[in-house]
Amino acid sequence: MDKVRFAVVGYGNIGRRHVYFLDQLEGAEIVLVCDKIEEKARDGGEAAGCKWTTDLQNVLDDPKIDVVDICTPSGMHAEMCIASMEAGKHAISEKPMALNLSEADRVIETQKRTQKRYFLVKQNRYNPPVAVLKDVMDEGNIGDIFLITSDVFWNRRRSYYDDEDWRGTLEFDGGALFTQSSHFVDLILWLGKRPVRVEATMENREHPYIETEDLGSMKILFDDGSLAVMNYTTATFQKNLEGSITVLGTKGSVKIGGKYLNELSEWNVDGVDKPDLPPGSPPNTYKGGYQGSMSNHDKVLQNVIDVLMDGKEAKVSMGEARLTVEVMQAAHISALERRPVDLPLTGSELEFDIKKSIPFPSRK
Ligand SMILES: NC(=O)c1ccc[n+]([C@@H]2O[C@H](COP(=O)([O-])OP(=O)(O)OC[C@H]3O[C@@H](n4cnc5c(N)ncnc54)[C@H](O)[C@@H]3O)[C@@H](O)[C@H]2O)c1
Repeated sequence: MDKVRFAVVGYGNIGRRHVYFLDQLEGAEIVLVCDKIEEKARDGGEAAGCKWTTDLQNVLDDPKIDVVDICTPSGMHAEMCIASMEAGKHAISEKPMALNLSEADRVIETQKRTQKRYFLVKQNRYNPPVAVLKDVMDEGNIGDIFLITSDVFWNRRRSYYDDEDWRGTLEFDGGALFTQSSHFVDLILWLGKRPVRVEATMENREHPYIETEDLGSMKILFDDGSLAVMNYTTATFQKNLEGSITVLGTKGSVKIGGKYLNELSEWNVDGVDKPDLPPGSPPNTYKGGYQGSMSNHDKVLQNVIDVLMDGKEAKVSMGEARLTVEVMQAAHISALERRPVDLPLTGSELEFDIKKSIPFPSRK
């Protein structure tokens, strides 16, 4: 294999970033861009200098394609990944893996049966402050971790939700936890121990025209008695305020702050000086002027190439991808039924489906 041949499906905000980065990676070639809207598909094909299509089936039928890169709305990721692997292709999905565990489990079952590779975009793991925090924790230098906190205080205004009809729907968006905050859940679980209980409260405060929550607070208990607490909202006044993670251990405290986990704001680690970090990538800026996470998609896509061409390890395992969905699903059950939910989910909790849940009543 001299190059990995990609098709990008969904040429919207993040699909454009994928095309942009794939175009620059030596080991990648974009063979086809697909968007259900003809104008976007054509734009994508022109930007990538390749053919375009409005029909996913043309992607699945094309023998030249090694990897299908799924950049469509969140509620479509799982089905499109399954269809791609069934068609004999590897799949990379934008986050989240799925909006419910049944779909996540079908992705895993399909991957095992077809033996194709599955990749999930979690680019924040590459942010320089996040990477040094993970290293210092793995080396045991922060001691025993007893608390992880995360605040995601972002703004998504009416124009953001009006712009695309999937946004703010239960079926395709899933809400501020699944779509905006799943990166932060992933990091909490990456840094923390095994989660055994989740308790959450959720509201729709400031966006009466959407079906999902725009505000929530989630507490996770880990098997060693340590805790994580995450507060998140897309209702922050006028603009993004913060996207942070703080870790408290018996030998150190570290806070990664800024709006997009981009600054090492506090570092007090026994016997370890604060590292001098290279500047991080800027955040993704999208149509409408709103900003998302730090843009490390080049590293995510390079990891796909390294795995397929050189047998390197995938940055995100399928088990980790599933666990993030499980914790977010548990949070929704907890918020709806107003009770703590134990993990792993079992019985009817496994079948809970946010896509079929009841819209959050607006407080406005
Ligand atoms: N990793 C990150 O930091 C990051 C940032 C932004 C978005 N995302 C994720 O990317 C996904 C897309 O978000 P977005 O903001 O780019 O949305 P978007 O609406 O801008 O783009 C989605 C595109 O998919 C196309 N599409 C929908 N159904 C299709 C189908 N059946 N076949 C082909 N194309 C189809 C739409 O026409 C649209 O162009 C979401 O799941 C979101 O969570 C991730």
